[in-house]
Amino acid sequence: MTSNRTTPLSGVSMTALGVALIRARESEREDALYDDFCAHAFAEAARDAFLDPGAPAGAARQWAQVEGLVDRFYEGRTVGVRAVDDRVQAWVDGGGRQLVMVGAGLDTRAFRMGLPADLRWFEIDVPEMFEFKEPVLAGVDARPTCARRVVAVDLRADWESALLAAGYDPEVPTAWVDEGAIPYLAHEDATEVAATITRLSAPGSEFGTVHVEVDETEQRYRDLTRLVTTEAEQRPVVRGLGSRARDWWDNHGWRTEFRGWNEITEPYGRRAESTGDGGNGVLHAVRHG
Ligand SMILES: C[S@@+](CC[C@H](N)C(=O)[O-])C[C@H]1O[C@@H](n2cnc3c(N)ncnc32)[C@H](O)[C@@H]1O
Repeated sequence: MTSNRTTPLSGVSMTALGVALIRARESEREDALYDDFCAHAFAEAARDAFLDPGAPAGAARQWAQVEGLVDRFYEGRTVGVRAVDDRVQAWVDGGGRQLVMVGAGLDTRAFRMGLPADLRWFEIDVPEMFEFKEPVLAGVDARPTCARRVVAVDLRADWESALLAAGYDPEVPTAWVDEGAIPYLAHEDATEVAATITRLSAPGSEFGTVHVEVDETEQRYRDLTRLVTTEAEQRPVVRGLGSRARDWWDNHGWRTEFRGWNEITEPYGRRAESTGDGGNGVLHAVRHG
């Protein structure tokens, strides 16, 4: 297949490609924790784009780096995908009818989980993500089972207006899912995003995010940072809500609970020890009135 795409995803959006490759690998297993039937199409389209002779200089090397990182992050990340699947299912089973994926990337839960038609499902990510994602989905004739709406906007811009314009109802309790977008934002931007989520959340809303205390000296994290950031961005800054994220939510109208990674992954019978259990796990917050 020859691609006419000359601008493959770049910067932090490449992390979404990495996770799609992880889901493609998982979906091939006999004991797969989930079946992401679109992940292969994303992987193929991206590979074609990165290896296209017309691609920007260095694209082939970047692709090799993405594949290398997938090997090193697979174990921990794939179990995390399933854990979020279960969280989403629990939200819907409990009557939740509105959900926002913050930094949705190439997530396909709206297509693969058999979610109900009356669930309002919003995917926020940068416009270039959807320029890549939507044609690939159309190419495999993927159809969402729920009411999926794409909100193509940068989280550092006025995404609140974009979300409202897309039909988001702030009076309806909402599940917010962040699988690694907010931690990439500079601290002030992350705080602003958290404040906006809070403003838009009716009582009973939930927010879930993976909290990873990264050892930045570990080689795989150094390689990841080098791949997705420019040299200027690599200057040390506090990213995301920082190590006191839980305090932030507790102090802004949310009740939090933290579960360590080993506890979360244990029911799935997979070894995810490369992720460790120190300060790593899932922060879950519920909005009180
Ligand atoms: C680690 S990926 C996770 C993607 C997806 N949630 C998944 O698990 O497959 C992080 C995502 O956050 C998005 N992201 C990062 N910074 C963003 C910003 N400023 N505005 C919108 N999206 C952003 C990236 O484009 C990327 O899709």
